[in-house]
Amino acid sequence: MQANQEFKIHKTSVLKLPPMLKVPLFDLNYDQEEENAVLGVLRDKWLSSGPRTKEFEKKFSDYLGQGTTSCAVSSGTAALHISLLAAKIQKGDEIIISGLSFIAALNVVTLMGAVPVLADSESFENWNVSPSDIAGKINSKTKAIIIVHFAGYPCEMDLLTRLAKEKNLILIEDAAHAVGARYKNRHCGTFGDMACFSFFSNKNLSTGEGGMFVASDPKWDEQARLLRSHGMTSMSIDRFKTKNFSYDALQPGLNYRPDEIHSALGVVQLNKLERNNKKRKLLVQAYISKLSDLEEVVIPWQTPSEEITPAYHIFPILLPKDIDRDSLMEGLKKCGIQTSIHYPAYNQFSFYKEIFSQPLKVAGEICAGALTLPLFPDMTLGMVSYVCDSLRKLIRR
Ligand SMILES: Cc1ncc(COP(=O)(O)O)c(C=O)c1O
Repeated sequence: MQANQEFKIHKTSVLKLPPMLKVPLFDLNYDQEEENAVLGVLRDKWLSSGPRTKEFEKKFSDYLGQGTTSCAVSSGTAALHISLLAAKIQKGDEIIISGLSFIAALNVVTLMGAVPVLADSESFENWNVSPSDIAGKINSKTKAIIIVHFAGYPCEMDLLTRLAKEKNLILIEDAAHAVGARYKNRHCGTFGDMACFSFFSNKNLSTGEGGMFVASDPKWDEQARLLRSHGMTSMSIDRFKTKNFSYDALQPGLNYRPDEIHSALGVVQLNKLERNNKKRKLLVQAYISKLSDLEEVVIPWQTPSEEITPAYHIFPILLPKDIDRDSLMEGLKKCGIQTSIHYPAYNQFSFYKEIFSQPLKVAGEICAGALTLPLFPDMTLGMVSYVCDSLRKLIRR
């Protein structure tokens, strides 16, 4: 990794980026391989789900292991929706979800007419959902638990799988941040009944839009395949290849299919994943060492347990309460550094304001003070130093 490499975009880019952008929050690691993969699809002239999608699914399952099945879908949100539909969640069922996450899980639970019950984070050092808080929120109406491996750091899967089994609840892993992460040498996404991955552009495996529904039991996979394609017994590619004219619809379904361009990108990105996650780890270690004197800032998972291999999806920090986050972000922007917030509290959103009037004790404070610094595989150590120096100057000012 070169320390002095600068952030550049292609000369012909149509993006209107801020003129001073020196360190973006995220940058794709695409090269000739992705370009060739896309060209291959265009030249083959089959765009909707087809052989590349099958190849991506097979390679993804082989990568995760544990006999899981993988059904590629159009987004991580589609995978989450499919998981609740497959689990036959009914109106009024209670689903426990993490109080600190992207709104996707909350939205699909709400759209199903189910009741989202928020569980708090473990601590300021471990932002993942607390198994004991989940346990205290289970009642006779609870049907499922959706956990998130936040920032790519695996949750306490021994405790969570035991809890779900004891209480006869469906366990769904929202593994959007955790592709490549492992708990006790086993991949995140292979512990729950079902798991949902996202391949949105900023994810460790990026295809622009895309997702994967992973199941531990073939019955969920069968359901997912029907749900992702109108409940139909065959896809266009099958009819094209076999010359069968018709199909049956076994149940109602949606169109959550991925296309071949995204699947071809997925195959290339999966090949690069381990290498990229290792680069992320080095960058996070550099951040931790360069920020060690900023004692007022909390860095979660600063010394991750040896039982986990994180995916290092994002690098969030927790700011002291007396720092005005908006002004700090503005200051960093002026230095050409893009930052973000993972995540605003659900009760900051108009629709959910009244539903969740009480902030969660730990997650509430994290949402109020979290700041995500740039992280992407081709980031340089020079960029890490620049971000840390700029942050230090602005905080100490
Ligand atoms: C934790 C989490 N869950 C779900 C999703 C939804 O994935 P997608 O954007 O692919 O629909 C995201 C996406 O950012 C996410 O971060």
